[in-house]
Amino acid sequence: MITSHTRLVGLLGHPVRHSQSPLMHNTAFAELNLDYVYLAFDVAPDELPHAVQAIRAFGMRGVNVTIPHKVAILPLLDEVDPLARQIGAVNTVVNEQGRLIGYNTDGLGYVRSLVEETHLDLTQQRVTLLGAGGAARAVACTLVQQGVKAIRIINRSREKAEQLASLLRPAADVQVVEPNACQQAVESATLLINTTSVGMYPHTAEMPIPAEWLHSGQIVSDLIYNPLQTKLLAEAERAGAKTHGGVGMFVYQGALAFSLWTNAEAPVELMRQTVLSKLRQGGN
Ligand code: ATR
Repeated sequence: MITSHTRLVGLLGHPVRHSQSPLMHNTAFAELNLDYVYLAFDVAPDELPHAVQAIRAFGMRGVNVTIPHKVAILPLLDEVDPLARQIGAVNTVVNEQGRLIGYNTDGLGYVRSLVEETHLDLTQQRVTLLGAGGAARAVACTLVQQGVKAIRIINRSREKAEQLASLLRPAADVQVVEPNACQQAVESATLLINTTSVGMYPHTAEMPIPAEWLHSGQIVSDLIYNPLQTKLLAEAERAGAKTHGGVGMFVYQGALAFSLWTNAEAPVELMRQTVLSKLRQGGN
């Protein structure tokens, strides 16, 4: 029940009406009997400073931040955690007695779900990353922070790949793959990660690399969760590779935010089932 003690958290984004976060978090709060409520706020870009001020004015416990505010919110906060600062984006804010602290749980959520679902040893992987945008940055910075030693980057535009590579150096051995060396970089990867939007609904017949390059010695991971199984993952499965889809990243980035706000362990399986059943209902 919502009372005068209920604590408010929410999502700042534009648009937000498609988001599964309110359902996922409110289900989790109810399961643990936590007196919190999560609402989605559609905040236009020029309203972001007012929205951040409202977190303080309303004494909200925190927010998630999504497109298009993840980068713009940084200078509006009192403190930004070092990993979020390196990524250059914040997806979670915690209000500690009036001090707003920014975190990035996207990369950590990704890595947590990858390890839980595939049981891989990160320190032993030869990683090839497809894409060099915001999602790639969160994933790559966190992989390096968590022990990955070498990453090769394949991206349509070379300049963005070079930018990401220099962000990751010297902590990791990073190479930008030449166009004529893509096949070799994909075939020799033990962990292939797609961070591009290629294959996302409604373009579900597309995949970012030829299916012939995939084989059974690989883990193939796709950040896309709409559809739940992309063409890339279907072809990887057909080739005998181990596969990892994007829902886990969404669930764990939420679970980590949940714990930052409540100091409680999130009911991850319930959150996953909640999101999956909604997505299977055809929530394109
Ligand atoms: P996100 O935050 O989801 O990562 P983004 O920052 O816009 O979104 O990055 C999208 C990534 O997908 C980029 O690496 C982009 O390649 P470019 O840097 O060359 O733009 C990649 N991408 C998107 N559409 C693509 C396509 N049709 N073919 C190849 N790469 C594509």
